[in-house]
Amino acid sequence: MSEQRQILVTSALPYANGPIHLGHMLEYIQTDIWVRFQRSRGHEVYFIWADDAHGTPIMLRAQKEGITPEELIAKSQVEHQADFDDFLISYDNFYTTHSDENKELSCLIYNRLKDKGHITSRTITQAYDAEANMFLPDRFIRGDCPRCGTGDQYGDSCESCGATYDPTDLKNPVSAITGTTPTEKDSEHYFFKLGDFESMLQTWLADDKVQPEIANKLAEWFETGLNDWDISRDAPYFGFEIPDAPGKYFYVWLDAPIGYMASFSDYAKRKNLDFDQWWGADSTTELHHFIGKDIAYFHTLFWPAMLEGADFRKPTGVYCHGFLTVNGQKMSKSRGTFIMARTWLERLDPEYLRYYYAAKLGNGVEDIDLNLEDLVARVNSDLVGKVVNIASRCAGFIKKNFDGTLADQAGKPELIDAAMKLSETIADHYEKREYGHAMRKIMALADQTNQYIDEQKPWQAIKDEAQHADVQRVCTDGINCFRILMTYLKPVLPKLAASAEEFLNAGELSWQDSQTPLYGSTIKPFKALMTRIEADKVNEMVEASKQDLVATPTGPLAEDPLSEEIVYDDFAKVDLRVVRIAKAEHVEGADKLLQLTLDLGGEQRNVFAGIKSAYDPADLEGKLTVMVANLAPRKMRFGLSEGMVLAAGPGGDELYILNPDNGAKPGMRVK
Ligand code: 2FM
Ligand code: ZN
Repeated sequence: MSEQRQILVTSALPYANGPIHLGHMLEYIQTDIWVRFQRSRGHEVYFIWADDAHGTPIMLRAQKEGITPEELIAKSQVEHQADFDDFLISYDNFYTTHSDENKELSCLIYNRLKDKGHITSRTITQAYDAEANMFLPDRFIRGDCPRCGTGDQYGDSCESCGATYDPTDLKNPVSAITGTTPTEKDSEHYFFKLGDFESMLQTWLADDKVQPEIANKLAEWFETGLNDWDISRDAPYFGFEIPDAPGKYFYVWLDAPIGYMASFSDYAKRKNLDFDQWWGADSTTELHHFIGKDIAYFHTLFWPAMLEGADFRKPTGVYCHGFLTVNGQKMSKSRGTFIMARTWLERLDPEYLRYYYAAKLGNGVEDIDLNLEDLVARVNSDLVGKVVNIASRCAGFIKKNFDGTLADQAGKPELIDAAMKLSETIADHYEKREYGHAMRKIMALADQTNQYIDEQKPWQAIKDEAQHADVQRVCTDGINCFRILMTYLKPVLPKLAASAEEFLNAGELSWQDSQTPLYGSTIKPFKALMTRIEADKVNEMVEASKQDLVATPTGPLAEDPLSEEIVYDDFAKVDLRVVRIAKAEHVEGADKLLQLTLDLGGEQRNVFAGIKSAYDPADLEGKLTVMVANLAPRKMRFGLSEGMVLAAGPGGDELYILNPDNGAKPGMRVK
C-alpha cells in the first residue's frame, strides 16, 4: 500500500432554491464512491461542500414565497441534507456559502487580487427593470428569438433553435419579473483580469489536471482569448457586499467556489485541522473537484486563477461528468423522468441507483443514460442474482453441517488467489474514476465464483459423508469470494457491505481485508441481504413524478397556502364594514403607506394602508371598500391607525383593494 495521502474532495454546490434530483445525485454518488474508496485505502480524506446560497434567483424566490432568503436557504439545507443522508453520501461537512467564513475568505481573496492589480472597474450598460428597480440578469429577460422568432425565450439562448445571443438582441423583450419592457442603465462594475493568468493556467492545465476533452475545450478558449470576468452585481442582490464599494455585491460565482474553502474552514475549526496546511500555496495535500461539464469554465479557469492570485493552493484535479439522460432522453417532467431524489427514496433502495450509476460511470464527459428497464435487469441480475446469491448458496451448508464454521483451508486456492490479485486492478479503476470497468471486473469474479459452485455441486456432495470436508472447503471458498467481492463493492454499496460484515462476523471491511481470507472462523446465520427491484415500483415512481407535476399547484394558492381552519365564532369576532374612501394622501417619509380617511357612515376613521406601490391616491378617492372596523387602534410612526382596509395579492404593485358591489352603503356590515 502506498503512503497515506491527505485528500480533500468536493462536489459542486447545489443552489439553495430547489430540490435535489437524480441528475444532481449522479455527481454526488460519483464523488462519494471515490471518497469511500480512498478512505477504505486508509487515506485521510474529507468530503466537504455546501449549499450555493447567493444570487438573484434565490433572492426572488424568497420574495415570492414571502420569506427571507435566510429562511429559504435554511429550509433548503435541511431538505438537501436529508436527501444526501438517505442516499448514503458520506460527506464530512455540508455548509452554506452564506457564512461568516465565506464572507471573510471572499473579501480576503478579492482584496489580495485587488492589491496585486488583478481587479479593474468600468461602467457598463445593462438591461434594467425600472419598475422592480433592478438590473436584469440575462435569464430574467424573455422575448422572441432574434434568429428563429420563437417567443418567450431567455435573454441568453433560444431553447428552440439553440442560438446564443445578447439580451439586447431579443425581439420584444420583457422583464420576467414585472412583465414591463426593460430599459438600459449604466453602472460601474468590477472585473477580474483573467488574462493576467494565461501562462500560469496553460502550465497548470498541461499537467493532467483535467480530462482530455476538457483540455481541448480549454485550448479553444485560450485561442479566443481570456476576457475580464465581471465579478460584481448591483443592489438589490443577495450576497456579500464588496469591500469599499457600497451597493455592489460579489457575483454569486465569485463566492461559490470559495464556499469550498469556507466549508473546510468551518470543519477544520471543529476538528482541529490546520486550514493553512490544506489551502496554503505550498500545500502538499490534494484537492479534487467533481463537477458537471457545464461549469468547467468556472473551475478550470477562474477558480485556479483566483487561488493563484490570492496566494492559495490550486486544485490537484477537476473532473467533469456528462449530463444525465433518462431512457435516452433529456429528463422530462411530462414523461415523469424528471425524478426527485425524494421520489426515488420513497419507493426504492438508494443502493440500486448507486450501483447502476457506478456501472455506467467512466472517467469521460459523455452523458450517462439511466435506462429504467436496464436498471431493473442489472440490479436483479448482478447484485441479487450474482453477488448476494453466492453467500446465500454457501451459508446454509456451513451453518447446517459445520455449525457455522468455515474450513481451515481453501478448496481451490487459485480461485481465492485470483480474486485477491484483482485488488490492485480494481483499485486502479476506482482511482481513475473508471467505475464501470471496476464493476465489470467485480461481476466477472462473481460469475467465476458461481460457476465454481455450480461445478462442485455442494448440494449433491453433501449427501455423501465422505465428501463433507470438500463441501466445507467449497462453501468456504464461496464465502471468501463473497467477502472479497463485498470489499471491492463497499465504496458503491455501503449498506449492503454493512449487512455482509454482520453476516461474516469478522469486523469491518477495508480494502486490505481483501487479502486476508477467513479460515476456521464462524459466520452468522444468513439473512436476505438485498431484495430484487420490482419493476412496478419503478413505474410507480415515474407516475409519481408525473403527478408531482400535475399535483403541484401553481399561482397564488401554491405560493400562499390556505390557513388553518377556524370556527364560525372566530370569524364572527371580526367586524367588517363597508366604507367610502373620503380622502387618500401620500405620507411624507413613508415608502409603502398611504393615509386614508374612511367614511364609515356617520363616523370617520384614519387608516394607514400599505398600498402605495399599487395605487395613486387620486384614483382611490370616492371608492367603496371594506375595512376591519373593530381592530384595536395601532400607533404607527406617522400617527394612529384606526382599522385596516382589505386588499388581495402578494404585495408590491400586485395589490387589489376589495370593492363591494353596487348598492352597498358605508357602515353596512359584511357577513
Ligand atoms: O451550477 C451550479 O449548480 C452551481 N451552484 C455550482 C457551484 S459549484 C462551486 F463553484 F461552488
Ligand atoms: Zn431560436
